[in-house]
Amino acid sequence: MKALILVGGFGTRLRPLTLSVPKPLVEFANKPMILHQIEALKAVGVTEVVLAINYQPEVMLNFLKEFETKLGIKITCSQETEPLGTAGPLALARDKLVDDSAEPFFVLNSDVISDYPFKEMIEFHKSHGGEASLMVTKVDEPSKYGVVVTEESTGQVERFVEKPKLFVGNKINAGIYLLDPSILDRIQLRPTSIEKEIFPKIAAEKKLYAMVLPGFWMDIGQPRDYITGLRLYLDSLKKRSSPKLASGSHIVGNVLVDETATIGEGCLIGPDVAIGPGCVIESGVRLSRCTVMRGVRVKKHACISSSIIGWHSTVGQWARVENMTILGEDVHVCDEIYSNGGVVLPHKEIKSSILKPEIVM
Ligand code: GDD
Ligand code: MG
Repeated sequence: MKALILVGGFGTRLRPLTLSVPKPLVEFANKPMILHQIEALKAVGVTEVVLAINYQPEVMLNFLKEFETKLGIKITCSQETEPLGTAGPLALARDKLVDDSAEPFFVLNSDVISDYPFKEMIEFHKSHGGEASLMVTKVDEPSKYGVVVTEESTGQVERFVEKPKLFVGNKINAGIYLLDPSILDRIQLRPTSIEKEIFPKIAAEKKLYAMVLPGFWMDIGQPRDYITGLRLYLDSLKKRSSPKLASGSHIVGNVLVDETATIGEGCLIGPDVAIGPGCVIESGVRLSRCTVMRGVRVKKHACISSSIIGWHSTVGQWARVENMTILGEDVHVCDEIYSNGGVVLPHKEIKSSILKPEIVM
């Protein structure tokens, strides 16, 4: 089987992290977002993943080459010369997606995290005999997603409304599809939205089916959702009694600590924290609901909550970093500084406190 991952877009909502690497390579729970997906695809027998890219393909491919051999899966790139939206890239990659087997292929949005129940999805797709399957999930704020209205007993999609202005329903498109190759006959090689132009048509022909995604789901393309997503992901590891979760008297709730990170005396870490490779957490530090990327140093008695600390940054002694503070790569927060929701661009030094949420350039 094959899969295409939609990797386009500039990831503006995840700046300043995406000023350093393309969004799919930003680590989530100590692993680049896209690797969570590729590993799950490999596990259900996908042999080739096509990355639909519209900028910086070299960065992505150089990075993923290593994983081609490690994971034993073919990873290729289909590059757009102009952004083709969420359907156009399928037409562009047509030759890569279709072979004699006429098997359905997966399509994924690159910024969604879940347990990826692909096996269940394959079963579902076989069972209904339609042309396309998608996963749906319930959310509290459906207006920022594609809303899907289904016929309860069969899952047949009656309506698909992208970013509705008025309330249509609370089941939304999770950005995970399994499509028959025949769908490619509906897509022209031009900028096209699968959500606005293709799915509504297939739904009208009663050939689009939706299954409710078992387990958790989150679009982690924005800092607040990224932090919530980490909580859900770690919860899911906990439910599966994963040995990856840290334990010890200094750990509260669910925490991931890379084996090459060091944690000093008298720290209290958690809940919902990920500490990346090579990090140095000095003594007496308090971390909760945050991600600390590779190579970060957190000095003595600093306190970080609900924040993301970018690669190779430092947080000074007695500093307090909270409320959706996002530090880009190589940012240095001086001793005793307070950051309340500061969004700090890469390579900055923060010498005075940030008292209200703002962007520091
Ligand atoms: N190759 C390519 N080219 N990829 C693109 C392009 C493009 O021109 N535009 C967007 N993408 C990719 C993005 O990188 C992302 O992986 C995916 O397509 C969806 O784009 P987003 O910009 O993240 O859309 P969204 O989050 O507002 O809405 C989409 O996702 C929701 C679930 O998170 C829609 O699919 C909604 O229906 C859905 O509910
Ligand atoms: Mg998105």
